[in-house]
Amino acid sequence: MKIIHITDFHLAAPGEKLFGLDPCQRAGRCLDDITRWHGDAAFCVITGDLTQQGNAQAYDWLAERLSDFALKTFLMVGNHDAREAFCEAFPNTPRDKNGFVQYVHATPEGVFLFLDTLKGPVSEGEYCVRRRAWLADQLEAASAERVWIFMHHPPFDIGLPYLDRIKLEEPEAFAGVLSTHDNIQHIFFGHVHRAAYVNWRGIACTCLPGTNHQLPLNRESVGTPYSQEPPMYGVVLIEEDKTIVHFEACLDRAPVDMG
Ligand SMILES: [Fe+2]
Repeated sequence: MKIIHITDFHLAAPGEKLFGLDPCQRAGRCLDDITRWHGDAAFCVITGDLTQQGNAQAYDWLAERLSDFALKTFLMVGNHDAREAFCEAFPNTPRDKNGFVQYVHATPEGVFLFLDTLKGPVSEGEYCVRRRAWLADQLEAASAERVWIFMHHPPFDIGLPYLDRIKLEEPEAFAGVLSTHDNIQHIFFGHVHRAAYVNWRGIACTCLPGTNHQLPLNRESVGTPYSQEPPMYGVVLIEEDKTIVHFEACLDRAPVDMG
């Protein structure tokens, strides 16, 4: 089974630049590349920060753009999103009984969980007691299956001080929900705007660059808080005994001179 992970579009109104780059144009090119080379994937997941400021024009652009996208796409919210504006543009995205944008996709290969870590108009993430109860129920129901989790905020420090301040709050409470299950295969997250791999208490976790701007590992190396580095999407191959993640730098791929 092949799935596609992509994250942090940070869309503005169509044609509007963000940090000198055109987020709609760049996200569109990435989606085109996925269609061209991975139209056979089972589905695509976008792990939040769909927009820069949660504005309706940006959500509408995305809804229009996805209307003829080749893959079934699961959308999630991040700290730059606005839950109500998102739900207006995507009324068919499932919500839990408390209104959080979190839901389940069950397949013959296992269960995929999409979590809502949006706290509000702040950068850090939240996974409150009501959301944790939902997750506990889903994990209980899927205890005989393999489980893959998608979430915007990482529930751990990642070694970037300015990001570690805005990770998921109460990480131990979140870890506690997962701790009684040994069937969690992988956590896919966004928020970091970099490609990184973390083994967190025995669980493999990966994140990706966004499609617009990135966070430099060393701010001094570029001199600005954000950087221009290659966007990537994840090509995730799920096999019986492993989960493989390829990081595809889709806008920066070119032939070499074979002389
Ligand atoms: Fe982001």
